[in-house]
Amino acid sequence: MTNTINSPSTYFTTTLKDTIEYSQTKTISKVLFKDNNTQYTLLCLAKGREIKEHTSTRNATITAIEGLGILTLEGREIILTPGVFIFLPANTIHAVRATENLSFMLTLSEHLQAKSGVSQKTVDIVKSTAPMLKKRGKQITTRMYEIMFHNHPEVKKQFDMSAQANGSQPAKLANAVYGYASHIDNLEALKSTVETIAHRHVKTHVQPEQYAIVGESLLQAMKDVLGDAATDEVMTAWTEAYEILAEVFIKREQQIYSSSPAVL
Ligand code: HEM
Repeated sequence: MTNTINSPSTYFTTTLKDTIEYSQTKTISKVLFKDNNTQYTLLCLAKGREIKEHTSTRNATITAIEGLGILTLEGREIILTPGVFIFLPANTIHAVRATENLSFMLTLSEHLQAKSGVSQKTVDIVKSTAPMLKKRGKQITTRMYEIMFHNHPEVKKQFDMSAQANGSQPAKLANAVYGYASHIDNLEALKSTVETIAHRHVKTHVQPEQYAIVGESLLQAMKDVLGDAATDEVMTAWTEAYEILAEVFIKREQQIYSSSPAVL
């Protein structure tokens, strides 16, 4: 049974203990709050009830509130007593059995890898910037490196500075950004480019946390060079698009660092 208590647009508070109720014939499930990303549900299982083995496509957390139960997690048994907190990555096989009346909060949240891609609106906006990026791409990436080396001089040592001076690296990055804008809805077409770049990144010891630095520098450079054409809508779309591209590189580079075969 699902019973939505609240779908608020502002904060709300509730005392979980007052919300708990048990039924001998069914598991009580109360959705406290739900949006596009996350669902917070109170689950109450009377003594002896169980939720059979299943998986979720979303990441989950379980926080036991009262009673006693057993969570079976990929064959391992975990005792659920008040205060126990468990994180379950998406697709983990699990089951729950109540040895006494048992209540717990279940949070389900979307995770980035499950995202099939960016929204259609973002695709359309990013694609519409492709001609502009073809024309002014190198100006943008030249500015991007200027911003990045100024704000984060420590990354300079990873780069071949002669390729900066002769403009070849900004040109390569501009090509990659333009390629992404043109094929954002068909990442398969970028596979060989992603491979080349990812291998170069691994050779130069690029780390996942450095993607935020490149991202903020690139977005700022777009604003600086494109001026009025870098509307809020364009910047929002590119922020989302960059995050997805960064995820693709980070994932592939992690695989290369640990020497596993290619997956895109
Ligand atoms: C989505 C973001 C990124 C894109 C699209 C991108 C793109 C590229 C491209 C096209 C190349 C040239 C590859 C080749 O030689 O054929 C390259 C090289 C390189 N990238 Fe990235 N990159 C990104 C993020 C980063 C990050 C986060 C870092 C970390 C600081 C980084 C550091 C480097 C370095 C050090 C090289 C080698 C440049 C050299 O030899 O001077 N990149 N990247």
